[in-house]
Amino acid sequence: MKSIPLHYSPDTHAVHAGEYVNDTRGHVGPIYQTSTFVFSDAAEGRDLFANEKSGYIYSRLGNPTVELMERKVAALEGRGLMLKAKERGEDISVYCRAFASGMSAISTIVFTALSAGDHLLADTILYGCTNDLFDNVLPRFGIHVDFVDCSDLTALEKAFEDHPNTKMVFLETPGNPTMKLCDIAGVAELCKNRALLVVDNTFATPILQRPLELGADIVMHSGTKYLSGHGNVISGLAIGTDEEFFARMHSMQIDTGGVPSPFDSWLLNTGLKTLPLRMKRHCENAMKIADFLDNRKGISRVLYPACKSFPQKELAEKQMDGYGGVIAFEVEGGYERAQLVLNSTKLFCLAVSLGCVDSLIEHPFTMTHAVVPEEVKAMHNITPGLIRIAVGIEDAADLIDDLDRALGSR
Ligand SMILES: Cc1ncc(COP(=O)(O)O)c(C=O)c1O
Repeated sequence: MKSIPLHYSPDTHAVHAGEYVNDTRGHVGPIYQTSTFVFSDAAEGRDLFANEKSGYIYSRLGNPTVELMERKVAALEGRGLMLKAKERGEDISVYCRAFASGMSAISTIVFTALSAGDHLLADTILYGCTNDLFDNVLPRFGIHVDFVDCSDLTALEKAFEDHPNTKMVFLETPGNPTMKLCDIAGVAELCKNRALLVVDNTFATPILQRPLELGADIVMHSGTKYLSGHGNVISGLAIGTDEEFFARMHSMQIDTGGVPSPFDSWLLNTGLKTLPLRMKRHCENAMKIADFLDNRKGISRVLYPACKSFPQKELAEKQMDGYGGVIAFEVEGGYERAQLVLNSTKLFCLAVSLGCVDSLIEHPFTMTHAVVPEEVKAMHNITPGLIRIAVGIEDAADLIDDLDRALGSR
């Protein structure tokens, strides 16, 4: 396997980390599209099952194409943390496990960490299915869940006092679709010796934000989004430093079965190589578009951390290396006007998801956040006039022209 010095930049790690010269000496790692692996003899099969020898048995248990991609993600999320540890004279390892989807990553993390009688504190603004899993599924298994605004550290401390059996705090930052931020270091401080902090880093990616460096215990991603980047993969990732937890999570995954396919893992690994370049472009384009929207008549608010009006701009500057590619904005004229705009763009494709090379537009109120309870939508101002765009890597001037025309449509 290639050994990449930790101090080399994320751009270099994205291209080289995890790669190795395979048996065929093919330049690009092959897709091991196989469900099972052949033992050289019965004794080898016995030794592999007894853990007395390492190697591949069956792709639900482990697959080389999946592992290559896991190593690259571990390097991108963890290299800064490992570098700091090395400077202190310590040696830590960062583990990554890939899943069939972001939701599979979340559910496996939760079912590994929590048992009946435990309590989970979750932020109030979450992806719709995460919200549904916590609100409707976990209570059926005796796991109690309360939602608290994790951007309010006083409220979080009070929630800890009210629920001393809290074992996990789960948050997304930036949050979907309002871009609300949580102070990861501040929340991590409150969680210390009390609860595991899990951060959904899907919107920021390790290029813009590394929660492990800020004190989070586990980072998760929907790899479906920026990490793969081309809208052709469904996948999930979990990254952390606790070897014992990751071993237990592997067992849980083997038993519950949410593994990614070798082909999706290969596509994801290919996408990761351009992640730093793509994120730079997503950020540059989104800055220009947010600026345009901020000055366009017919728009009542723009939610993007770089905007002067964004209340948590300072926090964004503190914990992020860029503001990302997602913007939400509210059109004057509410639902009817929003529908007109959604139906009128030509470059912005009317579809949920985000993080693709092409730009997408969607309506959180009736689409991604349709299952979120009305009172939660009201609390976060997810109104019928709110539109979310995921800015791609096309030419910014063309995207602005497309939006301008759609906003002016009748
Ligand atoms: C922030 C966030 N987390 C998790 C998920 C779930 O990921 P997946 O669709 O890969 O299961 C999504 C999906 O949109 C998301 O936006």
